[in-house]
Amino acid sequence: MQEFIEVETPALFKSTPEGAREYLVPSRIHAGQFYALSQSPQQFKQILMVAGVEKYFQIARCFRDEDLRSDRQMEFTQVDVEASFIDREGIYSLFEGMLKKVWKDVLGHDLPTPFPRMPYIDAMNRYGVDKPDVRFGMELVDFTELFKTSAFKVFASTATGGGAIKAINAKGLADLTQGEIKALEEIAKSLGAKGLAFIKVEGGEWKSPIVKFFSDAEKAALTAQLGLAEGDMLFFAAAPWEKACAILGRIRLEAAALLQKRGKLTIRADDWQFLWVVDFPLMSYDEAENRYVATHHPFTAPVAEDAAYLDTDPKKVRGQHYDVVLNGMELGGGSIRIHQPALQKKVFEDVLKIPADVVESRFGYMLKAFTYGAPPHGGIAFGLDRMVALLCGTTSIRDVIAFPKTQKGQDLMAQSPTPVTAKQLKELHINIVMPE
Ligand code: AMO
Ligand code: AMP
Repeated sequence: MQEFIEVETPALFKSTPEGAREYLVPSRIHAGQFYALSQSPQQFKQILMVAGVEKYFQIARCFRDEDLRSDRQMEFTQVDVEASFIDREGIYSLFEGMLKKVWKDVLGHDLPTPFPRMPYIDAMNRYGVDKPDVRFGMELVDFTELFKTSAFKVFASTATGGGAIKAINAKGLADLTQGEIKALEEIAKSLGAKGLAFIKVEGGEWKSPIVKFFSDAEKAALTAQLGLAEGDMLFFAAAPWEKACAILGRIRLEAAALLQKRGKLTIRADDWQFLWVVDFPLMSYDEAENRYVATHHPFTAPVAEDAAYLDTDPKKVRGQHYDVVLNGMELGGGSIRIHQPALQKKVFEDVLKIPADVVESRFGYMLKAFTYGAPPHGGIAFGLDRMVALLCGTTSIRDVIAFPKTQKGQDLMAQSPTPVTAKQLKELHINIVMPE
């Protein structure tokens, strides 16, 4: 018995736009004012810690106005947990225990624990994504140093200009058709790639439009580090580091699907490869907004020994943030929180550059609550729909949700969303301006 107390928290909350886009609900009584549907009970559960609840859980409905995908719905369910006086190790062992029990009770399967832990930077460098599917290899290999002096200018200029050159070896995929290569290139381009250089190893030869530029030393290094053999297919990405990782991370998954289709690779749905991804950067720089944004959410505590960099170089600060990943899907995520009001205020104002009056109106109540003596606390939320989908052997959460919305956010049965009457709008003090 873990003795967590179930607490139900409101769905109608306040708009605090620091995460996913929210659904707004107009107030009839307070003309011109809005609630937001809760994206998660994050702030409520932290307040419960201040109130002394100490161990909270809830099967919580969450609402996010996001672009929908097979693993994303606009409303979904979290197994949401928060506890006081807990650290990262406490969270890991508690939830490994929960997952072990669920897998045993539902499938009769014994999950080995503890789960491996992988720093974010390794996940990106080796798998090109922060939610790696480690059921198969085909890891990314870095050739940035090698190509700095290359005669192939595309690679040399990227490598010397601060970018990265990454490659994967899709073993046995040299029989790709022109059409399949083109389709992969389109996928790479949709992620911002300038191209998708490849080499086919076929009939003892390297077949590729770019191989004429490669020196013998470059060829030898590629052969050795990628274990090249007859029938292999190499793909390259040359781009800024994060983009190069993301492009090849996606091509790796596509190549694995093509290999599976050809019967050359077996990836079993019941090969349960759990891992914790840890040591995420606390902040990432948002080029569009020209400021730092929180990688997880702004309540995440920095790793203690990195906190000094908050003032000088926020990029360097790791967060006490963890994700539990299963077979390429993020099953859950959480963090140890900031519980000191001064540090929380500093993160909002000095690092995230939210003006002081906006911080006060959005988060003032939380900062005030912290001044009453908040215990150190942390928590996690599991995507219940994703967990059930994977347990059922599917990756689409629509398969396990009664009445899911379509990709376009519609309910085709009841036909929502729909227009409403002028009377309803008037009551809510709303004027509709249709897009041009
Ligand atoms: P986060 O935003 O990472 O964290 O969400 C936690 C988990 O919820 C699931 N999830 C979704 N499932 C289906 N459709 C969606 N649109 C969707 N969005 C998220 C994922 C994800 O891992 N408050 C924090 C948790 C915390 O810090 O304690 C939070 O909501 O499986
Ligand atoms: P180009 O010299 O632009 O004709 O490109 C030669 C080959 O390299 C083509 O197969 C392109 O798809 C590929 N290519 C070009 N730019 C990149 C890049 N940034 N990353 C990976 N491949 C690239």
